[in-house]
Amino acid sequence: MQDRLESTYQQALAELETVRDSDVLRDWELKYLGKKGAITELVRSVGQLPKEERAAFGKHANEVKEALNAAFAAREALVRQQELARDLEEGEVDVTLPGRAPATGGLHPSTQTLREFYDIWGDMGFQVYRSREVEDDDTNFTLLNIPPHHPARDMQDTFYTTTPNIILRTHTSPGQIRAMRDLGERGTQPIRVILPGMCYRYEQITTRSEIQFHQVEGLAIGRNIHMTDLKGTITAFAQRMFGENARVRFRASYFPFTEPSMEVDVECFLCAGQGCRVCKYSGWLEIAGSGMVHPTVLRSGGYDPSEWSGFAFGMGPERVTMLKHGITDIRYFWGNDLRFLEQF
Ligand code: DAH
Repeated sequence: MQDRLESTYQQALAELETVRDSDVLRDWELKYLGKKGAITELVRSVGQLPKEERAAFGKHANEVKEALNAAFAAREALVRQQELARDLEEGEVDVTLPGRAPATGGLHPSTQTLREFYDIWGDMGFQVYRSREVEDDDTNFTLLNIPPHHPARDMQDTFYTTTPNIILRTHTSPGQIRAMRDLGERGTQPIRVILPGMCYRYEQITTRSEIQFHQVEGLAIGRNIHMTDLKGTITAFAQRMFGENARVRFRASYFPFTEPSMEVDVECFLCAGQGCRVCKYSGWLEIAGSGMVHPTVLRSGGYDPSEWSGFAFGMGPERVTMLKHGITDIRYFWGNDLRFLEQF
């Protein structure tokens, strides 16, 4: 067997010397070093030898194997080099061809809009406060002046969990309660925060409504905050977001957690207020709900409404993104279709 090992080794080396291309090289590797290769089989047959010869043979066989592995690696490098040289010579590789651009990622359109919001509100002194997505029923509704059986609960169809009273938040407004309790130091400190995050509603998914969407809540609490502050602040935001000539109007509305309540419209920037399909020929686009924080909500947050007041607002970044880019179907946002996402 020693002899066979030696002769196989010599034969393998000799054959390797003649290899000129990588296909033949692969065949050679299979023939000698592969799972069923000649050397591999010899190494395996060590058991057939008398006990006293096994150690010496095994050692020798391993040396042969290593030598052939090294010879193979050297030959492989040489063959590669020769093949490349040959290809270049024969023009098979066109070195003037432009390279393939690697695919790069990008920010989701909602993320881009959110970051724009953060910049603008940050410049006005609003810090980002992150509140939880899994909420309790009390904080999502009752503490916001939406008691059980209040009709406003039906306006927001809720995802319930298997734990009683634990739900997915239907809006970012419950974050108002958490921010006041967390930052207000028992109703003694002013607050200026925005609360961005995902909200969930048990809705029929259509081009206009999704079961998940972002909101950006705003909350300012102080000793001397008036509706003029709300109007001025939101107008300043709109002018940064939609252009310095953007006109804003406030319409009386109703939300349980604010009094008075207003909806905010910005003049349609697609038709400059002339009336188009997107603004439904009204010349205005609704961008936010807002109002003065209801005394009950201030109390929920630990503030005395006879001394403190505040304003709040809620906006939908997906809606703003849709208006800005003329996107007509909200389902694109969470559809993960690159043909959509790559446009931003
Ligand atoms: N939470 C409201 C909604 O989801 C939006 C909203 C309206 C938030 C008025 C506010 C506000 O803070 O003052 O429809």
